[in-house]
Amino acid sequence: MKVFNSKENIFKTIEGLKIQNITVGFVPTMGALHIGHLSLVSKALKENDKVVVSIFVNPTQFDKKEDLKKYPRNLETDINLLNTLSKKSIIVYAPSVKDIYGENIEANNFNFNGLEYEMEGKFRDGHFDGVGTVVKRLFEIVKPNKAYFGEKDFQQLQIIRKMVENFKIPVQIIGCDIYREKSGLALSSRNERLKPDYVKVAPVIYKILKSAKVKFNKQSAKKVTDWVITEFAKYKLLKLEYFMIADVKTLKEIKRKSNKKSYRAFIAVYADDVRLIDNIALN
Ligand code: PAJ
Repeated sequence: MKVFNSKENIFKTIEGLKIQNITVGFVPTMGALHIGHLSLVSKALKENDKVVVSIFVNPTQFDKKEDLKKYPRNLETDINLLNTLSKKSIIVYAPSVKDIYGENIEANNFNFNGLEYEMEGKFRDGHFDGVGTVVKRLFEIVKPNKAYFGEKDFQQLQIIRKMVENFKIPVQIIGCDIYREKSGLALSSRNERLKPDYVKVAPVIYKILKSAKVKFNKQSAKKVTDWVITEFAKYKLLKLEYFMIADVKTLKEIKRKSNKKSYRAFIAVYADDVRLIDNIALN
């Protein structure tokens, strides 16, 4: 497997592929790869000749220095995992902070038409400016035909779609299903930090989301939301940060149901000090 650390080298290699009309898929990640990430890479391998996987813990999207420091980094394990999918067709780009940011480790300011102020934007200051900055730079280096993002981070996916539209970046954005454990818990690198009691109770999050979906067929968003809040109060180990039913396009909380619009329910829950997010399509 080819592993690049510098943008000049990967840029040149990709230029070479483009000349030969080889299609390039792209899966940006922060490493600490798990099966959720690999499901994106597998999909990309099916739809493209080559797949670039970037592994870069992006400093500008962390609002707490402590989280950035604690973020797991294990490039060798990540490369071994990717090797199990394909040795020939995957190209890894694992740059240093300097390679992406030079001496100026700062995010640019973006206007994502208000998508950035909802949900995660309210709880993670400047997060989406950091995501937008790094993904835009990565797109300029990798110049992919298609780029793959998980619906696990649905708000991020919609924000990237908006960025690509606003800057007219020639890439097709592909949203990928949430990969779940058998228990229903959405896979996340944070799950490893859950203590045993919390591992047992965390699947409740998806169970409640599924029940909310059924209820939403017949009840108002307000009634469903109140039910979810009451339900979570029964689980002393879980602390609900937010539950919200929103329009998938605007990510604004639903006012009145319309048959013409698509809705999703979004949730963030603390299990001890581990923050878990999830979401589900409602119609
Ligand atoms: P990271 O958290 O490493 O996630 C990389 C990609 O994997 C994202 O698109 C995320 O939605 C997807 N993903 C994570 N868990 C998943 C699951 N259980 N099922 C399906 N997809 C899943 O998201 C980021 O990194 C960063 O913000 C990044 C886009 C790389 C920019 O730094």
